[in-house]
Amino acid sequence: MKVAVFSAHKFEKEYLISANTNKHDLILIESRLSADTVSLAKGCQVVSIFVSDDASSPVLEKLNLLGIRFLALRSAGFNHVDLEKAKKLNIKIARVPEYSPYAVAEYTIALMLALNRKLIRSHYRIMEQNFSLDGLTGFDMNGKKVGIIGTGKIGSLVAKILFGFGCKLLAFDPFQNESLIKQYNLTYTDFNTLCRESDIITLHAPLQNETEYIINEESISLMKQGVMIINTGRGGLVNTKDIIEALKNSRIGYFGSDVYEEEEGLFFVDHSEDILQDDIIARLMSFRNVLVTSHQAFLTDTALRNISNTTIQNIDLFEKGEKIQNEIVFHEPPA
Ligand code: NAI
Repeated sequence: MKVAVFSAHKFEKEYLISANTNKHDLILIESRLSADTVSLAKGCQVVSIFVSDDASSPVLEKLNLLGIRFLALRSAGFNHVDLEKAKKLNIKIARVPEYSPYAVAEYTIALMLALNRKLIRSHYRIMEQNFSLDGLTGFDMNGKKVGIIGTGKIGSLVAKILFGFGCKLLAFDPFQNESLIKQYNLTYTDFNTLCRESDIITLHAPLQNETEYIINEESISLMKQGVMIINTGRGGLVNTKDIIEALKNSRIGYFGSDVYEEEEGLFFVDHSEDILQDDIIARLMSFRNVLVTSHQAFLTDTALRNISNTTIQNIDLFEKGEKIQNEIVFHEPPA
């Protein structure tokens, strides 16, 4: 099959080529999919996209006109795809539901520790031959209460690792995982209680209507003074402007984020020669107790291999007309 692979980053190309074993004709396109670039898929039957691509209704309509029948997502999350429109246009969609929850869970802990122990600040000091420790005091993770929002594949592993640190675990999720209660002494609670009682809050729920801006002025007002918030889920889970206000008045003590609500077109791209136009992220990056990274929590060798292998398998199954286990099917919301 001829496949237009949008947002084909340097870091993943060799994995895609190796997984493909010359089966499909992969057209590796560096640009992200958008209304402006959609024509690059001309002549292809399949399009593959990453998290920063635009698969909104107008773009899907253009893909449909080009004859695209299958969209192979190289991601687990699919909040960037208009599933309802895709169903109407009869474009099938498949994702990579699990490629390495360890990669994201371990990175979540890395953000917590780097912020707590002020590793970035310390590194910059050492580079300037400043060996002073003043201002670098952290806290013991042992005994701290961590609130986990979303205890699916990634949230469960975060619970496992933090249990090893001696943390007390609270969680909020509409589906309770009994084994986490038994193995890690985790307590499920309501969202407000989690906000009130946690020293650290970490986000692992999908971005959907109910979770959009779940961290906002109101929920922040319930939190402990100096709380640490970590977001390796999706940018839209937090209202960034409200986070900035709470950082300004020290209500939030630490904010670690691998995602950003306006990351499309910003993350994954070298903008070092450009004038930064996004004033919100510019302000966010100005706080010393903030650590922002550009959606790299997934970025391990294991994860890249699994993403590429599953993406090619999804395309194989589509080509053969066989059932695609990883297909995302749109369900009408209940009336
Ligand atoms: P998962 O589907 O295994 O788990 C999600 C959990 O969230 C489920 O237990 C679900 O019941 C729960 N949930 C659903 N609605 C909720 C709500 N309203 N409140 C609280 N919990 C709710 O997904 P997985 O693999 O653990 O991934 C979680 C999220 O992490 C993904 O949706 C994705 O957005 C993000 N992610 C980020 C990556 C990165 O590189 N930064 C990489 C991979 C995923």
